[in-house]
Amino acid sequence: MWAKGETVYHLGFGESRFPAHPKIVRALVENAARQSYLPSAGIPELRQAIATFHSRQLDREVGADQVIVAPGSKSLLFAFQMALAGATVLHTPSWVSYEPQSRLFNRPVLRLPATPEDGHRLYPARLQQLLRHSPYSQHLLILNSPSNPTGQMLEPALLEEIAEICRREEVLVLSDEIYGLTAYGRKHVSISSFYPEGTVVLGGMSKHLSLGGWRLGIALLPPGDMGQQLLQAVAKVGSELWSTASAPIQYAAITAYADDAELTGYVEKCTALHAARTRYLWRGLSELDVPCAEPMGGFYLFPNFDHWRKPLASLGVQTSVDLARYLLEEWQIATLPGSDFGTPAHELSLRLSTSYVDLETDEKAAQLIERAVAGVSDEDLLRDHHPGMNEVLTRLQRFLSSM
Ligand SMILES: Cc1ncc(COP(=O)(O)O)c(C=O)c1O
Repeated sequence: MWAKGETVYHLGFGESRFPAHPKIVRALVENAARQSYLPSAGIPELRQAIATFHSRQLDREVGADQVIVAPGSKSLLFAFQMALAGATVLHTPSWVSYEPQSRLFNRPVLRLPATPEDGHRLYPARLQQLLRHSPYSQHLLILNSPSNPTGQMLEPALLEEIAEICRREEVLVLSDEIYGLTAYGRKHVSISSFYPEGTVVLGGMSKHLSLGGWRLGIALLPPGDMGQQLLQAVAKVGSELWSTASAPIQYAAITAYADDAELTGYVEKCTALHAARTRYLWRGLSELDVPCAEPMGGFYLFPNFDHWRKPLASLGVQTSVDLARYLLEEWQIATLPGSDFGTPAHELSLRLSTSYVDLETDEKAAQLIERAVAGVSDEDLLRDHHPGMNEVLTRLQRFLSSM
């Protein structure tokens, strides 16, 4: 539609659009001539920098030998699912790639059901129930907090309960914490604080540093022999698939994981902008009485339109895929259907991402961060520099009042 010159308000892509920080860009330029293959788990200097960074973040000792890097955390997720036996357990809704990756290996997928009424909350009792009745002897639980698609975070007490169950049932947890440094609703807490011996933490540079295209993902393995065996298994998959994360990127990433107040400040500024933009859209939806859990991290919302089921049916909209298509064709608003994230087809939920609208070009993204750094208030930024976001709210208001 864009190519045809049509207007589209893009709430589809989940890509953080703020500029790459100049210090990290400089480090990449300085290392551009690095041309050799590197160890498949990553270079020792980077593994050490990541271990030190995360020891600080997680408030416990992480050793360099517990770290592996790869071209994106998505590749690591793939390698873990390939290397491990058993079934994958997912909460609903969950990020789009977990289940398709499992399917590529014919891994069974078990889903914890959830409903829009309580914002798709995860109940530990349901996890216990599912594991108890599962026909499989081994399970890999994938958690994601802050969550893509809901923007929700799992609170510490809940993580503690989940950890207890996983310890008792000997379930390995893959904790996808790629949005951990974009949390704003509360401090990010990792389930690895409660279950260090059975948790793999996944992360990377894609979200908090807006470096998705650089493809650098990390995993922190549990301490001890089990962690080392897992690391070897995943490094073996990596060695056969991607050999190594790109050499210049690995050297530049040492700067990205340094203890640097300027970089920390930049990440905080970008996160504050994601928070302001995502909360603004959430408040607008709330004013339109669209049920939607308040966002706490990342840049996503997962509103539900079941209340309008009847009038929508008369427009031929029966499923979340129909709803996403209708909004795109009739109102030029691009979203993703909830069913892409594992919700039932007839649940009228959508995933909205605020990371793209009004940041469509690099110039717009740079201008917004410059204004924020210069001290322009969130209120002024959203009123005066977000024509797309404001138009989305106007269109949603007209769409809902037309029914
Ligand atoms: C929940 C979640 N996990 C993992 C990823 C993949 O990140 P990476 O760029 O490290 O492969 C994404 C990217 O959209 C994501 O949203």
